Amino acid sequence: MEGELRGLEIGERLVLLACQGGRVTAMDDSCNHAGCLLSGGWIDARKRAVVCPCHEYCFELGTGRNVTIPRLCSDQHAFPVRVENGRVLLELEE
Ligand code: FES
Repeated sequence: MEGELRGLEIGERLVLLACQGGRVTAMDDSCNHAGCLLSGGWIDARKRAVVCPCHEYCFELGTGRNVTIPRLCSDQHAFPVRVENGRVLLELEE
């Protein structure tokens, strides 16, 4: 649903799904700064980014790029997503 963040546990991996601007994107849910879950944060529609609830670093939806200045942590790993017949398909590497 538009504007929604959802955290998934897939095997050992925590994945964030975000729906913004009619597009579904995915990245690691665990923030690489200090491990908080981005799924507990919110979307900044202007920056097209998810905001971490702990220290409010922003990661661009689709790429996981850290768009916070100063850049005190890395980018989040992002995953390719396809939506087919209403199903969200994620490509997770091994
Ligand atoms: S844990 Fe995410 S910004 Fe610090």
